[in-house]
Order: sequence, then C-alpha cells, then structure tokens
Amino acid sequence: MISDKLDELQDYPFWRMNALVEGIPLPDGHDSAIPMWIGEPKHGVPEIARAALSGSFEGYGIYPPIEGTPGLRRTMAGWLNRRYGLPEGLIDPDKAILPVQGTREGLFMIALAAVPREKAGKQPIALLPNPFYQPYKGGAVTSGAEPVFLACPPQSNFLPDLDSLTPEILDRTAIFYLCSPTNPQGTVADLAYYRRAVDLARRHDFLLVSDECYAEIYDRDPPAGVMQICAQDGNLSNVVCFHSLSKRSSVPGLRHGFVAGDPDFLTAFLRLRKYAAASSSMAQYAAAEVLWSDEEHVAENRRLYREKIDIAERSLGNRFGFFRPPGGFFLWLDVGDGIEAAKRLWAEAAVKVLPGRYLAEDNPDGSNDATRYIRVALVNDLESTRTALTRIAATL
Ligand SMILES: Cc1ncc(COP(=O)(O)O)c(C=O)c1O
Repeated sequence: MISDKLDELQDYPFWRMNALVEGIPLPDGHDSAIPMWIGEPKHGVPEIARAALSGSFEGYGIYPPIEGTPGLRRTMAGWLNRRYGLPEGLIDPDKAILPVQGTREGLFMIALAAVPREKAGKQPIALLPNPFYQPYKGGAVTSGAEPVFLACPPQSNFLPDLDSLTPEILDRTAIFYLCSPTNPQGTVADLAYYRRAVDLARRHDFLLVSDECYAEIYDRDPPAGVMQICAQDGNLSNVVCFHSLSKRSSVPGLRHGFVAGDPDFLTAFLRLRKYAAASSSMAQYAAAEVLWSDEEHVAENRRLYREKIDIAERSLGNRFGFFRPPGGFFLWLDVGDGIEAAKRLWAEAAVKVLPGRYLAEDNPDGSNDATRYIRVALVNDLESTRTALTRIAATL
C-alpha cells in the first residue's frame, strides 16, 4: 500500500539531473565535473564551531529537547532582533521561536500543522511560487492541500504577483510559501511586498511562511525580512519566517535552522514536532549557538560570494540575461533550452548545472516557465568558479 499522494511528487531535481547525464562521458582529460548544480556552500566549516562540536560528547547520552535549549532560543531570537532591528519582546524566546533540523524538514512539516481538513468549505489551497524549493510541494501534497503554483516572471521581480490572487483562492488558502531572496533567481522582496503579503494572510486567515534562508548572502543591501512588518504592527499572527545556518555559515551538514513567528501557531507546531520531528544533538545545538553569535565569518562568506559574482559579471557580461543577484548565490541564466545546455556543459565543459525546468511545475497547457533557464550555484572556491564560468561562456 503506497499513498497515491506521492504520485504528485516527481523524482527530486537532483535525481533527474543525474539521470539526464547518466552514460554521457565527460570530455577527455576530466574525471569529474565542477559541481554547480546543488546549493551546497563549500567555503569550509568555521573554525569557531570546532570546540562546541567536539566538546559536547556527553550530550550523546541524553535525548536532546526538540525545542532546543533556553540559551539557544535566546541566541536565535537575539540574532533575529539585531539583523532586522526588532524591538525586544516581539520574539519571546520561549514561545515564538523553535529550532529545526535544517529548514528543509521544517518547511515540509509546517504544512502538516497549518492545513485543516477544509477551508471555506472546500479542499484547502497551498500557494507556492513557481519555480520553487521542492519541499514546499512535499508539504503541500502530503498535508492534503491543493498546491497552486504562482508564476514568477522577470517583470514581477521573479516574485508571485499578489494582485493576481482572487478572493475565492485566498479564502481557501491555508498556507502561502514565499521565498526571498528567491531561489533560483536571486531577487528580493521589499517591505512593501511583505506588507501586502502579511495583510492578505491576516485578512484571509492563512499562514504566511516566509523562507528567508538566503537572507545573509547579499550583494549590496541586506534584504528586508517579514518580521520587520510584524514589528511595525507589534503582532506576529499568521506569520512565520525560516532562517538557516546552512548558507549563512557554510554548514549544510550541521542541519540547523529555526522558525520564528506566531506563538499560537508555534505552540501547535511544537505539539506536532514532539510526535514527528527528529531533534538535533546537543553538539548541533551548541555549535549553532556559537555560529548565530558571530558575524565575522558571515561577512567573509559574503565577501567571497561577491567576488564570485564579480567573476561571473566579467565572464558573462550581459549574455544569458545575466544580472547581479541582489541576494543568494545562484545565477539564473536564460540559455534558450536549459536541459540541452546542462547536457552540453556536462559533455563539453565538465561543468554540472541544473536545468531550470527541474525546479518548476508545468503550466496546465504543458509549457514550463523555467524551460529556458539553467541554475548555476556559485558555491565553489574562486579558482574553480573562474574556470567553470569561463567554460560556460565559451561553450554556450
Ligand atoms: C530556498 C531554500 N529554502 C530552504 C533550504 C533548506 O536549507 P537547510 O535545510 O539546509 O536549512 C534551501 C536549501 O537549499 C533552499 O534553497
């Protein structure tokens, strides 16, 4: 017996990419491809986390609390307050913030806590940007919601057009996943955009889930965050945000992030998490506390990403619709046919990128808005990045 809900989930994009190039040899002289297909930061684990990771040996002898330690919750709330200039007291560390074991699982599981059996007398809706981070869809379909994919064209800054949402859709909406800085495109939502999204969430009583995983990787100005709107209102209702150490601190293997916002919702989410979630180890909690308390290593990460964007700008110029992404570390390049380009880059340039199509849902007419694109992750060291971008420009 297998749930037919899983039929709605196609193979994960990275499997599809591996299948695409299976059996296609790399060019002569190469035994591996430069990996630019996965957003896995490779700047190295910050040394400041070493002592916490190795000093928590005894912690493996206890069941760690799913809600983290009081010290960790205070540290995470303190970081959020400093980063977004929030007033003390808005984020109560005991009620309005919870650690997650990497935001992937939290972003998935949150739908199970947010989606009721019915909304407005019908099947609830989960709103998703298109293209999108795939676990949003996993949460939407397994929670029993109908996923509704929102076009994110360049004309709307690669964000969903909030004016296109009808009252009928909004009344049925239980959860709205929003991502800024956007993955894959690297654009950012401003405060006016967040204001409209928060107002819609409260007016139509759905949960706005603001995925701000890339908030710390930016080119010039720090991207705005949804909590700034909650601070203006002195009100966290209907809103949560997700933040992660994976990109900020280059520790995708630490599996640590947090969700903060609506305390009533988070109380219910914690109840679910006590049944279902894997807690982090005490070592993870201790290392997370160190990393959320430090800004120096993050500034260095940003410097490296900027340098790589400079290299990209020099290599690509204004070809393939290149623009400097204001946030995140992806390039979203219009290459005409993303699948063909990914195959050629593998076979002729030994560079592995991801076809945009694998990140996006088909439109009802079978077309796909991301078909023309590839996503290129600037996660490697400067030298490999320079080599890869030169090869991309020469091959395409
Ligand atoms: C948009 C977005 N959200 C969330 C995540 C999850 O990151 P993590 O589970 O490492 O916190 C990713 C990872 O690639 C992502 O791209």
